[in-house]
Amino acid sequence: MSRLLFAANWKMHHAPAAAREVVRAVLARHRPQPDRELIFYPPAVSLGVVVEEIKGRRDAAAGVQNVHWEPKGAFTGEISAPIAAAAGAVWALVGHSERRHKFGETDAETGKKVRAALAAGLKPMLCVGELIEERRAGRTEEVVLRQLAAGLADLDAAATARVAIAYEPVWAIGTGVNATPADAAAVHRVIRGWLAQRTPPGARAAILYGGSVNADNAAALLAEDELDGVLVGGASLEAESWLKILAAPRATR
Ligand code: PGA
Repeated sequence: MSRLLFAANWKMHHAPAAAREVVRAVLARHRPQPDRELIFYPPAVSLGVVVEEIKGRRDAAAGVQNVHWEPKGAFTGEISAPIAAAAGAVWALVGHSERRHKFGETDAETGKKVRAALAAGLKPMLCVGELIEERRAGRTEEVVLRQLAAGLADLDAAATARVAIAYEPVWAIGTGVNATPADAAAVHRVIRGWLAQRTPPGARAAILYGGSVNADNAAALLAEDELDGVLVGGASLEAESWLKILAAPRATR
């Protein structure tokens, strides 16, 4: 059975003390389960305490919300993939919609970041997703496949298989409006079909859904066989709601 990924994207929340408190509270009450992996994406300055707190928990990992594609240099304010890895990150989010739409990150840059993360031994989690206008215009598939092609450009099949994909429709992020499980699954199928032609035979890509996932809708979403996990913002900030999501039953495959 493949592992379900439960990824907490804390965005610009939780200084080190708060990060420590939440991770401690979550791990104290969530017992390791062989079929679930927890991923914490704290702000980079809180990465160290998260890494300390998850030590010894084989079901938990930490990651960074963004990396620069250069390994080092004069890039004030940026963090490179090798620096993130040395600080204990295992995962790197790439191309989150806020990076794309608030900071102008381009498709081509996401590709450079994915390659840099892989080169540093990090597991990239590439985010893709359409704007509401794009969905209304029937362009969801085109947008998502364009983002995938750019984000995974120049990778061979084995490298492609090491990248997790998070499908996050932009209109569902932080809005309280989530895609229905069927809508999410439909886009996941498109992504899976595209990846199947570019990864080794038999590899199952990890495709997560994100966008207003909460304690009330997580179970319905995870009942979809297409979902290999969830990427959660707001509802992952407090231990209580995150624990409820972590306890959601999975689809029987
Ligand atoms: P949300 O954010 O769960 O608060 O909608 C998800 C994300 O941005 O990854």
